[in-house]
Amino acid sequence: MANVAVIGSQWGDEGKGKIVDWLSSRADVVVRFQGGHNAGHTLVIDGVTYKLHLLPSGIVRKGKLSVIGNGVVVNPWALMEEIETVRAQGVEITPETLVLAENANLILPVHPAMDEALEAARGKGKIGTTKRGIGLAYEDKVARRGIRVCDLRHPEFLKEKLEALLVHHNALLKGLGAPEIDLNQTHDDLLAIGEQILPFSGVVWKILDEARHQQKKILFEGAQGMMLDVDHGTYPFVTSSNIVAAQAATGSGIGPKAIQYVLGITKAYTTRVGAGPFPTELNDEIGNRLGEKGHEFGTTTGRKRRCGWFDAVIVRQSVKVGGIDGIALTKLDVLDGLDELKICTGYELNGEKLDYLPASQVDQANVKPIYETLEGWNESTFGARSYADLPAAAIKYIRRIEELIGVPASVLSTSPERDDTILVEDPFFV
Ligand code: IMP
Repeated sequence: MANVAVIGSQWGDEGKGKIVDWLSSRADVVVRFQGGHNAGHTLVIDGVTYKLHLLPSGIVRKGKLSVIGNGVVVNPWALMEEIETVRAQGVEITPETLVLAENANLILPVHPAMDEALEAARGKGKIGTTKRGIGLAYEDKVARRGIRVCDLRHPEFLKEKLEALLVHHNALLKGLGAPEIDLNQTHDDLLAIGEQILPFSGVVWKILDEARHQQKKILFEGAQGMMLDVDHGTYPFVTSSNIVAAQAATGSGIGPKAIQYVLGITKAYTTRVGAGPFPTELNDEIGNRLGEKGHEFGTTTGRKRRCGWFDAVIVRQSVKVGGIDGIALTKLDVLDGLDELKICTGYELNGEKLDYLPASQVDQANVKPIYETLEGWNESTFGARSYADLPAAAIKYIRRIEELIGVPASVLSTSPERDDTILVEDPFFV
């Protein structure tokens, strides 16, 4: 029996919600370990749609423990709002079912204010952030001036920390021509929200250590995707956390050996929201078609996603860097009806061939995809439940992807429905 980490292998939005839900239905503990409410995981269970941003997917299922680890940046107001929304859908959320790491850093009102002001100041160099203040909260964490969940228990100490933090940010906000943030108001608001979130706070590393020793199945639920990893992604057009599976350990307080299987969620084509390099982007009819058929609009911001061909170079890199053992391939049906399909197998840069995406921002903007063309299929793959239901050309497409990225498609998801899944290898029992 294994503990499993699920991460995105592209630029996020690979369809993690369904797979994570399916895995969390069989896990005992579900842990978020990075990111914040910039994520958006949609779950459809018995016809009810749940839209989660910060809460782990296990929350909607009875008898599971949901954990928000120290690697997550938590906006306490967004958290309470999400808890109330999900409660209104009939889900019971108590300190017995949800634990928030006491050492997690908080997103304060100053962070989205700064996120907005900085994006506006970037002009043409915009990152296209979700404006949730994610990057700013991580900056404060690393700068050692962050406010953590446990600080809410100590009002006077909290005020001192807040003062130091606001001296820094208000000077910047002033310089950017944006309104400053009031110390007393923030302090009062934090104390008020603290009363609501503190009952959920706990010592996550201890809880996970116990769960591990009791042989409980733990699912580590990643957000975003490998190419948005702050170290290994298309920097600076990335989010501000690590996405790699190793972060599941750091971001929750458990050793790396606690994770036995890493499942990389991978879309059968490529999408990206926000700015930054995207070598296989299609600004044509096919790109539009993928966007329409795949309903490619962001769950969190509603923004239209950019679409393109499958890029085996970035997924192969994610497999190696992220520690992915197998992929869950999603949204194959969006490719149904195309005469031919292209897969990017390498890049060309200044007349040279590359089998990886270089780190330089300049090089990333200039790489040209080298494509291989495969035959398309006319039959529908939507809802297929076994390989026998798939057209030969679709199987060829999957096999070629496996060959190019070096790991198997352990799971194939063929519609948003839970049962429309082809399981080749069970991540919990490898
Ligand atoms: P931030 O995480 O809000 O700072 O945004 C940084 C970049 O990550 C932007 O390009 C966002 O569009 C992207 N991003 C953040 N969260 C997600 C996600 O859940 N899915 C896809 N892209 C995301």
